[in-house]
Amino acid sequence: MQKRLEHLKRLFGQWTDRDNRWLAVPCTFAALLVLLVMVKSCQGIVYNFSNECKIYKLGYPIEDARTLVAVLSEEQEDSLIARQEHDTIAIPVIRARYFIPDNFDRYLAFHKTDTTGATLDDIIALVNVGADQDRVTNSVPSDTSKGTLMLVNGRHYLDEHYTPDNLSTFNKNCCYENQKAQSAVVDAFVGLQQACEEQTDAHLMVNSAYRSYQDQIGTYKRNDKRYVAVPGYSEHQTGYAIDVTSLQHPEKWSFGKSKEGVWMREHCHEYGFIIRYPEKQSHLMAYSYEPWHMRYVGTDVAKRIHDEGITFDEYYAYYIDYDGAHAKPQSR
Ligand code: DAL
Ligand code: ZN
Repeated sequence: MQKRLEHLKRLFGQWTDRDNRWLAVPCTFAALLVLLVMVKSCQGIVYNFSNECKIYKLGYPIEDARTLVAVLSEEQEDSLIARQEHDTIAIPVIRARYFIPDNFDRYLAFHKTDTTGATLDDIIALVNVGADQDRVTNSVPSDTSKGTLMLVNGRHYLDEHYTPDNLSTFNKNCCYENQKAQSAVVDAFVGLQQACEEQTDAHLMVNSAYRSYQDQIGTYKRNDKRYVAVPGYSEHQTGYAIDVTSLQHPEKWSFGKSKEGVWMREHCHEYGFIIRYPEKQSHLMAYSYEPWHMRYVGTDVAKRIHDEGITFDEYYAYYIDYDGAHAKPQSR
């Protein structure tokens, strides 16, 4: 037994030997170094399998690969990797003002097939409002619980039986024939009309306001399809839309150029209205420019839409569907 202990001491216990104790430090250091190298190699192997590394290998700078991994879902990372190419628009897209993460693949797909030379902002806006998808097959019922903010457009429709709850009739001095709209609209229009008269001497008049599904069938038959919605797809059925010109300038096509038409474009948001189909953004919508068609959305939302220069469709996609006001800012 004694012999065996002596042997062990010789084999493993040299460090306890006063003469060999100096070996302990370099040996421990060497062992730690080997361990560190092993850990690092394992990490390297694991990293090689990570999406960050795969994206980096597609040609994205490492910071961009990190940003993409931080912003995208795993599914989106996989589909980005499956493209097997460095997409120059991937990073600009996620840094865009109205970027919606769920739409990432569609922005890239739109850009790839676009032949119109759409700008980055255009791509974001077009995809956000669904203009990259077929209108008929992608139509969904409008969420009427959103009240003044319910969206009715070429892709969101109302049931043929939908009737607004709070219809009131405009005063005779506001329209040529009896017209009805949501009571909030009727009240807000009085303020708008008064301010416009004070500032431009023109007297605004409502030509058309609430139209039932049945009314819209007649309107649709009688009019140019670029300016009229298919029954069920007209926001006149919500009771929040009004067509406005003035006693002095009743002609609707040129109304936008009249003094009061210009005033209305600049000031209607102060009374809760927006020009629903603006000239510059008609490519985002199902309809051409309509200087006369106004939509009531309330003063806060109208101000935001006016200040940011976006359409109601873009507002709805970003601020309501996506809740962009509370979204985590993307890394820039
Ligand atoms: N003029 C608009 C598009 C409508 O018919 O609702
Ligand atoms: Zn209209």
